[in-house]
Amino acid sequence: METLKAIETRRSIRRFRGEVPPDNLIEKIVGEAAFAPSWKNTQTAGYIAIKGENKDKIAAEMLAPHNAAIVNSAPVLIAMVTKCGRCGCERDGSFTTKKEDRWQYFDAGIACQTFCLAAHDCGLATVIMGIYDEDKLPAFLKLDDDEVLTALIALGYAAEQPDCPPKKSVNELLSYL
Ligand SMILES: Cc1cc2nc3c(=O)[nH]c(=O)nc-3n(C[C@H](O)[C@H](O)[C@H](O)COP(=O)(O)O)c2cc1C
Repeated sequence: METLKAIETRRSIRRFRGEVPPDNLIEKIVGEAAFAPSWKNTQTAGYIAIKGENKDKIAAEMLAPHNAAIVNSAPVLIAMVTKCGRCGCERDGSFTTKKEDRWQYFDAGIACQTFCLAAHDCGLATVIMGIYDEDKLPAFLKLDDDEVLTALIALGYAAEQPDCPPKKSVNELLSYL
């Protein structure tokens, strides 16, 4: 798919068809997301693909109703995990800028959108979710002490085609100095 078309036609999808995407397609998308830029090429974003009983448990116990319905509909839930202590840091562990470790969330966002655009190009739909139980879910995923859960992504074949929500105009977004 042409890049600008992919950017313009990607939508957040919250209802999915029943088919489960094959693992090799999920692997293709993660392989494409690996091309995302990152702080000093630290590549601190990782992905956990969750299906079946584990996904059902997360929906039932770790999500509010709106996102639980999305995850129940989606055949795959992706947990985006960031390795801490590298992004935004010097080799000695000190922070390089005043933004300190917040650069790791910047990198996670780039990786997340790269994942979503790659999925779109591969015929799959996504919605990023930032609202979940921030205590129970990382524990359930057995994350290491130096890892944080940065976002969830529901993944599957779209069962809806929502219109594009209103987006700001160039005049609102851009100024010159
Ligand atoms: C960081 C982030 C968190 C989000 N969290 C949720 C969420 O918890 N639940 C949800 O349904 N959508 C969530 N969204 C999706 C946004 O609502 C969606 O991107 C926005 O309405 C624009 O629609 P579009 O993606 O189709 O352009 C999130 C998006 C981002 C970038």
